[in-house]
Amino acid sequence: MGELILGIETSCDETGIAVYDDAQGLLSHELYSQVKLHADYGGVVPELASRDHVRKIVPLIEKAMADANTSPQDLDGVAFTQGPGLVGALLVGSSVGRSLAYAWDVPTIGVHHMEGHLLAPMLEDNPPPFPFVALLVSGGHSMLVRVDGIGSYELLGESIDDAAGEAFDKTAKLLGLDYPGGPLLAKLADQGEGGHYSFPRPMTDRPGLDFSFSGLKTFAANTIRDADGSDQTKANIAFAFQEAVIDTLIIKCKRALKQTGLKRLVIAGGVSANTSLRAAMTKLMQDINGEVYYPGLSFCTDNGAMIAYAGLQRLKAGETTPLAESVVPRWPLDSLTPVS
Ligand code: KG4
Ligand code: ZN
Repeated sequence: MGELILGIETSCDETGIAVYDDAQGLLSHELYSQVKLHADYGGVVPELASRDHVRKIVPLIEKAMADANTSPQDLDGVAFTQGPGLVGALLVGSSVGRSLAYAWDVPTIGVHHMEGHLLAPMLEDNPPPFPFVALLVSGGHSMLVRVDGIGSYELLGESIDDAAGEAFDKTAKLLGLDYPGGPLLAKLADQGEGGHYSFPRPMTDRPGLDFSFSGLKTFAANTIRDADGSDQTKANIAFAFQEAVIDTLIIKCKRALKQTGLKRLVIAGGVSANTSLRAAMTKLMQDINGEVYYPGLSFCTDNGAMIAYAGLQRLKAGETTPLAESVVPRWPLDSLTPVS
């Protein structure tokens, strides 16, 4: 048995728990999604999210520990998401994680949620070697990062307004789909036909690696208002929207690879579960003789495994988070320190 860690993720509306062993890999993982709880409100209600984490977290930890056949004495540490995220939700995972570590007399390590996403492909059988360019596309963030090692992050570009996942969710809402609409919009787009609508490719006509997705939502609103409202029309609009987001991401990734001289791309975060995006990126990387890596589908969206993995890498390098340290709801990724 290698070094063993418990990972806890509660930054938003998913309670994710995992037990990860350095030598054997992932031993167990549990996920509780609050999607149904928030669906009536069309988005995450922070106070409800915190309370539901409180209800679910301890039973899920018990289950993950039991499934991994692990007792507290076996653990070398507890990792929890320290930020960025909803402050109340983060506080649940951090309070429970730090309390357990105190009781079990093991160190804690606070993990940056986006570092978790970025390292999620490391859980796969064929992990990406450094250096690479990472496209992180989640509900809260969109960024392009040059990654030279764990913690060695150079921010190349980011969204100046909505994140990619947020644009998917908002456009899905305009199309009458439930929350979170990203995966539902993708499904609707599969029924759509190209050539009917043409959405803009924001910020691609000028240099730079920043994104802007809020204009697509406005464009979608205007398109839907002027359209006939039939199911086929909605599917065609979903298709055109998704095509524009993917095209924009492709253009920016190509640019980032050219700028860095790298030919290795990692795509992570909730939107990396999108199969059309994966197909388009795979084709791009084939065309330029490069390599592309993704997390497994269940590790694209929020989960405890990525937090356990990232936490263990930092713990092994001798880092720990003092028990008195609180959460960091706003936390730039490029402020992290490299792991030697
Ligand atoms: O990484 P994540 O679970 O949470 C954050 O850290 O924000 O990402 C969730 C986002 C949501 O906006 C969701 O709609 C989007 O990822 N998403 C997708 C797909 N699956 C999840 N967007 C497009 N296509 C999908 N298949
Ligand atoms: Zn996330």
